[in-house]
Amino acid sequence: MSKSVVRNLTLAVGALALSASAAIAAEGGAKKLHYTPADPNHYPYHGVVTDKKGHKINVDGAIMRKISPVTLKKNEFKRGQDAPADVIKAWNVDVRPDGKGLPPGQMTVEEGAEVFANNCAMCHGDFGEGVGKNPVLVGGIGTLTRQAKTGGDEGPEKTIGSYAPYIAPFFWYIKMAMPLPTPKKLTNDQVYGIIGYILQMNDIKVDGKEIEDDTVINADFLKKVHLPNEKGFEYNNLRKPDTHNTRCMKGCRDMKKVKVMHIKIDATESITPPVKVPRYNCGKPVMNGEGFAAVEAPLPAPKGASGANAAAEAEYKKSCAGCHASGAAGAPVVGNKGDWADRIKKGNKTLYEHALKGFNGMPPKGGNMSLKDDQVKAIVDYMVGKSK
Ligand code: HEC
Ligand code: HEC
Repeated sequence: MSKSVVRNLTLAVGALALSASAAIAAEGGAKKLHYTPADPNHYPYHGVVTDKKGHKINVDGAIMRKISPVTLKKNEFKRGQDAPADVIKAWNVDVRPDGKGLPPGQMTVEEGAEVFANNCAMCHGDFGEGVGKNPVLVGGIGTLTRQAKTGGDEGPEKTIGSYAPYIAPFFWYIKMAMPLPTPKKLTNDQVYGIIGYILQMNDIKVDGKEIEDDTVINADFLKKVHLPNEKGFEYNNLRKPDTHNTRCMKGCRDMKKVKVMHIKIDATESITPPVKVPRYNCGKPVMNGEGFAAVEAPLPAPKGASGANAAAEAEYKKSCAGCHASGAAGAPVVGNKGDWADRIKKGNKTLYEHALKGFNGMPPKGGNMSLKDDQVKAIVDYMVGKSK
């Protein structure tokens, strides 16, 4: 090894040790700050974030490591094995804004409207107007500049027509996530038809032409669609905070003295931040052994709750809460005594029967046919218990 290489190495090691000790010193002195990287509201966008070893942390919470070319060459990533083509295919289901990834298939708008009526209208409304608190899919054009201030002003209405920049990714979303109680049940043809119907209801013109009932919707068609808000997004600097102020790098305001307003969201209960975070503060996150301090630990089971009850609660959340937590589609709200009093009077046998076989807007087993009869009965007991 030549002399200069040795000197450079020593220098590099010295610099590393220095920056590491500086980081630790700063950490000891700074206010402790917890955040979850998955929650952009609590991500400290200001300043570079490093862990205790001085590794930079990426905006998604991953640690950025520098690997020297020598180490790289030595290891050459010999771990693992290549994913087989069929595995990649099974995972590679996303659809890009430009339509890449759209599968073959097609359906007319008229047929799509029928699939929508049978699978989506109970929550999103016959004409996409939204039932209860489920999202509105149609309208809202021209409302994006509205500000919801205090005093009951209406805010923007964000729908596929008014807000979404591109239609193609909705193929993926609808195919994978909807209908909410039974996702992935639609065929590709049906998803095309439904999207055509949603576009038609939003008065979207394609190549200057209105979408007719007999218009055939397929991948080529969706690639030609331009939504009104296509140019309304800015993509080129994800780290840029959404404000016009300059960054605070030192001597920032004391957040103990500043009140931060948490907006109450009406969809569920009001959302309180999981941890008290001084926002817009320069500081370092506190790390535990596994990385960031976890903020969302699973809740301990309530005292006295049997395992069966906890299982019923989990199944309820998965298969029934979609309607029964909000009252979507006219479902009786769990926890609302008034909604349930008359129903409970009918007796367990009837309630079981209706939950298993369906009853008006109540689909058999809530639409989740993989539930065993006994599971459904246990869920009904759970729902009734919560609503007495
Ligand atoms: C049981 C009620 C329910 C049913 C049935 C249902 N959805 Fe949804 N849908 C929801 C809820 C709730 C959301 C919001 C989900 C979220 O934000 O995580 C949603 C979100 C969506 C969105 C995104 C809306 C937006 O503005 O981001 C689309 C599009 C959508 N659903 C389409 C459909 C289609 C198409 C069907 C029928 C195949 C369907 N949904 C069936 C409840 C439902
Ligand atoms: C797509 C929405 C939806 C889902 C999902 C859903 N329900 Fe319902 N449920 C309803 C509606 C709507 C009613 C009211 C029907 C009526 O009275 O006409 C209802 C009523 C009921 C009732 C009362 C029946 C009666 O005789 O009064 C029970 C019990 C029930 N649901 C159980 C369940 C269970 C258990 C699940 C999950 C496995 C579930 N529901 C999922 C929509 C839903």
